[in-house]
Amino acid sequence: MSKSSEATGIAVLGMQWGDEGKGKIIDLLSKEARHIARAQGGNNAGHTIIAEGKEFKFHLVPSGILYPHTKCYIGGGAVLDPSSFLEELGGLKKSAVSFEKRLFLSHYAHVVLPYHRLIDQFMEKERGAGAVGTTGRGIGPCYADKVARIGVRVADLIHPESFKSKLEAVLKIKNQQLQKLYGHSPLEFSPIYREYVEYGERLKPFAAPVEEFLYQAGRKRERTLFEGAQGALLDITFGTYPFVTSSCTLSGGVLSGLGIGPSQIQRVVGVAKAYSTRVGNGPFPTELKSEELALFPDHTASREIGTTTGRKRRMGWFDAFLLRHTAHLNGVDALALMKLDILDGLDEIKICTGYKRTPTFPASDEELKKVEPIYESHPGWKEATGHIRVYDDLPSKAKAYLRRIEEACEIPIAIISVGPEREKTIWLDPLFTDY
Ligand code: GDP
Ligand code: IMO
Ligand code: MG
Repeated sequence: MSKSSEATGIAVLGMQWGDEGKGKIIDLLSKEARHIARAQGGNNAGHTIIAEGKEFKFHLVPSGILYPHTKCYIGGGAVLDPSSFLEELGGLKKSAVSFEKRLFLSHYAHVVLPYHRLIDQFMEKERGAGAVGTTGRGIGPCYADKVARIGVRVADLIHPESFKSKLEAVLKIKNQQLQKLYGHSPLEFSPIYREYVEYGERLKPFAAPVEEFLYQAGRKRERTLFEGAQGALLDITFGTYPFVTSSCTLSGGVLSGLGIGPSQIQRVVGVAKAYSTRVGNGPFPTELKSEELALFPDHTASREIGTTTGRKRRMGWFDAFLLRHTAHLNGVDALALMKLDILDGLDEIKICTGYKRTPTFPASDEELKKVEPIYESHPGWKEATGHIRVYDDLPSKAKAYLRRIEEACEIPIAIISVGPEREKTIWLDPLFTDY
């Protein structure tokens, strides 16, 4: 498989701090795709889709599941909380969305256990003012156990004998931690074992050699989407550490998380909002001052309330300096620019083009906290854009804003989103170019 000529995979990745609108883009592209795979993260993610007037929120299930012709995969690099996953399936069943024989779970994915959630919450409490602001879903502790080689995987869970010995060993370690560090009473083996053996039975029909399936899809040149979770600045290595999640959220993570080679990715689409948001703690150079925030639609109207935790997202101006950096980390070749409509009512819109005396994006969170953004001011278009479907019909000031973003980020925009619904989309590039 040579890269650009034959590969039929598109990676869709968040360019900011998550919640850019990846779910909407995956749903749109799924209409023309056969396979959709999630490589990393867990139920810390929340991807919202509005399809035919109905709202869906996905945490672990790939956002392509709404189209019955697709096959969806959760890869070995993801972490799976079985109760959350099964709850999600229950929701799909209620909405009459089929998933039997078209949703597959890698044997290599690690399992979130009750002590992961407890430890996540205890660690956050202990950090006090320095808390990361995690989703409390046990994601960090689960990934930590994976690296410490004391994790439990789907492959273990579906084999009760193997699960038993692994859980016995790890629970000893975890109970010491819970008791000695956090003064928590030890967790009993039997209830956890029983609960998770039952989960194992329910997960068994989904467990599959996802890596091989994706390889075969690539060989047959079937269109595949790789759905990112979180965003580039939440990446465990290159994000705003330590205020990050615990997985690789970049295009590199797609490969390592699914067990595929780079030749399976044809294009990398970076999803970014026409402004910025962040949920949780950590530096945010272009964060709005309260008087600026007051000029934006409120959090409910702008849909800036976290899908997973219900927290209000912090909001900021578009940061082109940051975006250029995250696009380079991912090898992005097209942008999906989301939520343009949220800026419709503003008199003035700012773009950050750099930070004073800062030639490259700072690695240190202390440094990033202190940077002084350089802003350019753009006049607002003061017109609704939600009804517009063709680029030429956009107000000229909106077009100038978009052109400036493309120029400052040095990446063409392929999709402009002007509302949460499927149809509220302006296509400049169909993205799938294989046939
Ligand atoms: P994800 O995690 O990247 O999939 O993004 P989320 O779903 O967590 O957050 C994006 C929110 O914005 C959701 O509520 C979407 O329904 C909504 N949304 C997506 N695109 C647009 C858009 O163009 N305009 C508006 N107003 N809302 C959008
Ligand atoms: P999607 O896929 C936005 C943030 C949390 C916190 C940090 C670490 O919907 O874009 P964790 O629970 O992962 O250990 O929390 O990462 N975070 C997200 N923020 N969108 C997400 O996912 C996120 N997943 C984690 O708020 O700051
Ligand atoms: Mg989200």
